[in-house]
Amino acid sequence: MQHTHNGADTGQKMSLQDLIEQVNKSDIGSLRQNVVRILSLVHNPATSAHELSDLIQTDPPLCSRILRVANSAFYGSQRHVGAIRQAIIWLGFNTVKELALSQKVFELFQNGNGLADFSLKNLWNHSMLVAVGSKLVYRREFVLSGEEAFTAGLLHELGLIIEAQFCKEVFAYDLIHQHKGNMRQLEDAILGYNHCDIGGALAKAWEFPDFISSSIKYHHTPELSPERGRRLVQTVFIADTLATRIYKEFNDEPAENKATFDACMRDLSIESEALDLLAKELEKERQILVEKGLML
Ligand SMILES: [Fe+2]
Ligand SMILES: [Fe+2]
Repeated sequence: MQHTHNGADTGQKMSLQDLIEQVNKSDIGSLRQNVVRILSLVHNPATSAHELSDLIQTDPPLCSRILRVANSAFYGSQRHVGAIRQAIIWLGFNTVKELALSQKVFELFQNGNGLADFSLKNLWNHSMLVAVGSKLVYRREFVLSGEEAFTAGLLHELGLIIEAQFCKEVFAYDLIHQHKGNMRQLEDAILGYNHCDIGGALAKAWEFPDFISSSIKYHHTPELSPERGRRLVQTVFIADTLATRIYKEFNDEPAENKATFDACMRDLSIESEALDLLAKELEKERQILVEKGLML
């Protein structure tokens, strides 16, 4: 089902609350359970390989994506990986968890006008890079597994996915005027709120864990995020900046916010040499994502 922004018809702006209600009544709303279910499975340390494979087996698109990656050029398997249990052994438990989550988030992108829309394809590639970049920063700087960072990065532009499907006039403006400027300013002017507000409100309505809603809501303004969990928001900010440097096809804030970036670097105690290494690593990871068939 396609929706247009009420403002286009009535001259009145749809409130953020009305927008969230409309999303929840739509096909996207029906994906909520799947996303929440996979999130709790991925972030529960007690989850077993058995539970994960049970979940995957009951979900054909998920199943086929995992087998596709297991048989991709990157893993260069000599034999055909045909079963999920086998794929978990071959790829590793954590990789399969990441893939499962990515597939569920990918389905949010496919809803509505889907990936035929060029800008959504770029947005997906950007989100994958920020997910991997956030994990790299977390692992290298804090010696943590980085699972939370991956999730936060993957979902940080959730508001834009919603906007692309429900607030089409913003994207129409974007296309017609070949807008290359700051998306948040454009959104604020047209809608009265922006993709950070939309994503944050939806994450709250869907009862995502706080670390995810904060990373979505404050991904352009980490300095405003609650202190608890700010480190993760700052991590996503750094990864977002690195990702837009190496993948220029998507950038919703072309003028880099140097002051915020420097503050994040300082707060997270990341040295500039470390940043160079992270950027190189992310570039390599980008290649790997392509080989695994995870970049479009
Ligand atoms: Fe953004
Ligand atoms: Fe971003």
